[in-house]
Amino acid sequence: MAAMKLEPFALERFFARHEFTAAHVLCASDCETFTIRELLALETGAEEKFAALRLGYTETAGNPELRQQIANLYQGVTAADILVFAGAEEAIFIFMNAVLNSGDRLLVHSPYYQSLVAVARGNGCQVTPWQTSQENGWKLDLGFLERSSTAATRALVVNFPHNPSGYLPGRDFFERCLQLAAARGWLVFSDEVYRFLEYQPENRLPAACELYENGVSLGVMSKSFGLAGLRLGWVACRNRAVLEKMATFKDYTTICTAAPSEFLATLALRHHVTILKRNREIIARNLELLRVFMRQHSGLFSWQEPLAGPVAFPRVNFAEASDDFCADLLEKHGVLLLPGRLFAAAPDQFRIGFGRGDFQAGLEKLAAYMRENC
Ligand SMILES: Cc1ncc(COP(=O)(O)O)c(C=O)c1O
Repeated sequence: MAAMKLEPFALERFFARHEFTAAHVLCASDCETFTIRELLALETGAEEKFAALRLGYTETAGNPELRQQIANLYQGVTAADILVFAGAEEAIFIFMNAVLNSGDRLLVHSPYYQSLVAVARGNGCQVTPWQTSQENGWKLDLGFLERSSTAATRALVVNFPHNPSGYLPGRDFFERCLQLAAARGWLVFSDEVYRFLEYQPENRLPAACELYENGVSLGVMSKSFGLAGLRLGWVACRNRAVLEKMATFKDYTTICTAAPSEFLATLALRHHVTILKRNREIIARNLELLRVFMRQHSGLFSWQEPLAGPVAFPRVNFAEASDDFCADLLEKHGVLLLPGRLFAAAPDQFRIGFGRGDFQAGLEKLAAYMRENC
């Protein structure tokens, strides 16, 4: 077997250079975080229990209570359908390596978070992008799935709510996608890391694992819950053969998740209603500021307003590509935006993130830059 070759992860390399030196990170995709003290204050006695936690190995599949708390986020899913990973990233890496085979074809919702494509390609899979664009309101065309189906097609990869556009389809559309996949025997890898951040709660989609036994729902503490530093993610899936393959591969990556992370994630999930409410409120406040900004700069930027999540993907009207604008903005005002090419998307797009508490300060710097330079 040829050694696996992975292309550099453009977005993560960009973050590695700038995320911890930029004065204003205005493109983050995670929500405002919490301190350990704030989490422990959610329950009496939690501080004592955390201090008494033993730091031995943990269970490969994940702590049973944690898996139960995760299962409670879904309908018709039990703790046995949950497998815990070191972030969503490890789950993506393992699914693409352990469940797919070289030569398999994947249809991938695009633009995409790069690992959803790069890891599969590294494993010898063929990827066909299921392309969306701002012109089409980031909508997907179901006819494409029918036209692109080949004998080698093995899986469909979707990401709702979508990073970077904030797009969320209707429930009918999602159900038809899953029906189509079921009729062809495809697996559906459904990246749902922004689930629970719908602006209208009634628009929340069911999880893929609830509707389809070959649906693999990806979740994580990083985004909607604002706890990226825990590095704790999971898949929820009723197909035990898929879970078994992933668990077997995990013995060669992390074996098990960090005990303090499992403790804190379990605690946070017991209070997920409180945490999600706070994060949705931050997003709602910031999104209103962003709407005003976009109205005031409508000649310079255009966008399709997101429907869910902490990111949007506007376009610059004053240049062919957003790269120079992003670089100049960072240099002059220390504000970090993500150029669209990092998503293999149209180069005039850029990602802006509004899930954090310091969004207004960064947006004011961006407005100052626009006044001085445009
Ligand atoms: C769509 C999507 N999936 C997966 C991930 C990976 O999440 P994590 O960094 O928590 O492992 C990200 C992170 O940005 C993402 O945007």
